[in-house]
Amino acid sequence: MLLPLHTVCLRSQTTCRRSFASALLKLSRNRDNANVSHFSHSAGLSAQTCKTLLYRKHGDPSQTVQLEDVDLPPIGAKDVLVKMLAAPINPSDINMIQGTYAILPDLPAVGGNEGVAQVVEVGSLVNSLKTGDWVIPKDAGLGTWRTEAVLAENDVISLPNDIPLLSAATLGVNPCTAFRMLSDFEDLKPGDTVIQNAANSGVGQAVIQIAAARRINTINVIRDRPEFPQLSDRLKAIGATHVIKEETLRRPEIKELFKTCPKPKLALNGVGGKSATELLRHLQVGGSMVTYGGMAKQPVTVPVSALIFKDVKVLGFWVTQWKRDHSNDERVFRAMLDELCSLIQQGKLTAPACTEVGLQDYSKALDAAMQPYTSAKQVLIM
Ligand SMILES: NC(=O)c1ccc[n+]([C@@H]2O[C@H](COP(=O)([O-])OP(=O)(O)OC[C@H]3O[C@@H](n4cnc5c(N)ncnc54)[C@H](OP(=O)(O)O)[C@@H]3O)[C@@H](O)[C@H]2O)c1
Repeated sequence: MLLPLHTVCLRSQTTCRRSFASALLKLSRNRDNANVSHFSHSAGLSAQTCKTLLYRKHGDPSQTVQLEDVDLPPIGAKDVLVKMLAAPINPSDINMIQGTYAILPDLPAVGGNEGVAQVVEVGSLVNSLKTGDWVIPKDAGLGTWRTEAVLAENDVISLPNDIPLLSAATLGVNPCTAFRMLSDFEDLKPGDTVIQNAANSGVGQAVIQIAAARRINTINVIRDRPEFPQLSDRLKAIGATHVIKEETLRRPEIKELFKTCPKPKLALNGVGGKSATELLRHLQVGGSMVTYGGMAKQPVTVPVSALIFKDVKVLGFWVTQWKRDHSNDERVFRAMLDELCSLIQQGKLTAPACTEVGLQDYSKALDAAMQPYTSAKQVLIM
């Protein structure tokens, strides 16, 4: 089966603007001899195979994802051959495999939307990259759970290769999301306060650190668990001002906390449901709540009084859309990556707590990525 080029896009309600490299797959008819060819948009000379974590239908990730060999296409003049180094398993990767995410690749598809790769060969007309460079995808849908890939030069952006591997592998989605949400919605000054739920998530840990670097207070809400004190200490060690349990948001003792820092101008909601409503209750008059995730799979309920008497703004953010909106001017994306890498180099932004897993142990990693209360990101090491 050769997938026609016009289907090679992420299906979404918005216009498809970018090709989806991992969907460019020419499948062997023989499932048992499941060699898969990766058909390139450009012609060249060399061909190799690589290992991929591929899914042919939507469903439970541990049932649908398989390790399969894929033929790499020749390297075109404006292509690069990369060796993937490390790639995380994020909630959106899981949702894509389940078929529940806002954008879905045509099947079969290689899993994974972010990760860091090293350039090992460049096409004759490539001028922005050289052998040895570290690169990350510019957009979602590149299919990063693989050992090698032939990619268009324009599909990736370089990073300094002196930052820690796990920082590079997890930089393109969560820290960028945290950076934009702290920059684009409220004019936050040193001493201001941000409140967030899912504070132990990848996004949450980046919010804590970027806010701390800007001397912004953070009130970090997490679900209760037996090891709450240890997790609270860990988040405080990376810069959290306060760490509280979901229940505390509803208790009078929260008033004590607001004696030590101003009420939040900005609330960041990665959960939804009651948790989001509780964040809203504590916002300053005129403040904003930005929803970026819905881990509880519950709608956000906004109290009428918050809209009428507190004039709160209820907004959403999606980093994929932000990247697409800025794809014609790479300078803004580059400036953000430079600032984030500078924080990493200064030791002010570390990768989230990660569990490194070999590619062949993907099934264990996928299962672990779907467990609650783990506080660790599964990262595939190629
Ligand atoms: N909009 C965007 O641009 C954007 C960008 C990046 C990420 N996201 C979204 O942000 C969310 C977090 O992503 P991530 O990569 O940072 O996640 P992560 O590191 O895998 O962490 C998952 C977080 O979700 C919490 N959680 C899981 N199930 C929950 C539930 N039922 N109720 C409350 N909390 C729950 C976990 O808390 P426990 O430890 O208590 O289980 C943990 O804090 C996801 O929904 C992701 O899709 C959105």
